[in-house]
Amino acid sequence: MSAGAEFVPKIVGIICNWCCYGGADLCGVSRFQYPPFIRLIRVMCSGRIDPGHAFRAFSKGMDGVFIGGCHLNDCHYVTNGNYDALGMVKTCKKVMERAGLNPERLRLEWVSAGEGIRFANIMNEYGARMQKLGPLGKAEGLCAKDLRYRLQAATAIVPYMRLVLSEKLKAPVHLRSSGDPDQAHEKFYDSGEFNRLFDETIGEKLATSRIVLLLRERPQSAGEISERLGLSAAEVSKHLKTSSRQGLVRYDTGLRRYLPADAPS
Ligand code: FES
Repeated sequence: MSAGAEFVPKIVGIICNWCCYGGADLCGVSRFQYPPFIRLIRVMCSGRIDPGHAFRAFSKGMDGVFIGGCHLNDCHYVTNGNYDALGMVKTCKKVMERAGLNPERLRLEWVSAGEGIRFANIMNEYGARMQKLGPLGKAEGLCAKDLRYRLQAATAIVPYMRLVLSEKLKAPVHLRSSGDPDQAHEKFYDSGEFNRLFDETIGEKLATSRIVLLLRERPQSAGEISERLGLSAAEVSKHLKTSSRQGLVRYDTGLRRYLPADAPS
């Protein structure tokens, strides 16, 4: 990018066929403008989108990932896939935050097929925000290698995330019939209970994943790990204990360093 040239972000939008895509279509037919750097992929339901799609898109160089679905309780499938999308996005945002990536890069919105102008407004606002934020990684103060590590660590825990999302971290079903399901779910995903469960499950798994990846570079002491990952000594010690117990890392008394359990002696 030459000096003074405006940064053009790469954004992928993954949107559901029945509502958000209809809104995008109406936006086009109505000749409302939105940034050309947002490319759309149509899926049948936002519930089809999983954490792997988001992290893969970021790993492939996207600066932003937009997910669009039907308004809550308007999903066209009995499974109410947009509630799954909501839980998935809220959790992915927390993973991104822990990995040092700006969670604003992942955006979820509900747009009906009759809301062409709403689609255009959201895309214009989101596109401008991503433009202002700058390139993924650089804007977060990360070098290319660090960014790759962080996304690799997040991608490595996707199968675990899927499992936990379908069980432990699911929002209670009764919230769907509350007067304002959007607000009720916001409250649930901001609650101390959700954060505690996240820390105990995905938060712990992500930290372990980051440590194992780091140790694949070279054996390191607890202090070095703490410095590289920006975690406190107490956090590193806790995660190292868990990783050792799970047979993922081991301590080499000769080197006085930790290394992956499968590294040659
Ligand atoms: Fe649109 Fe399920 S069909 S979110």
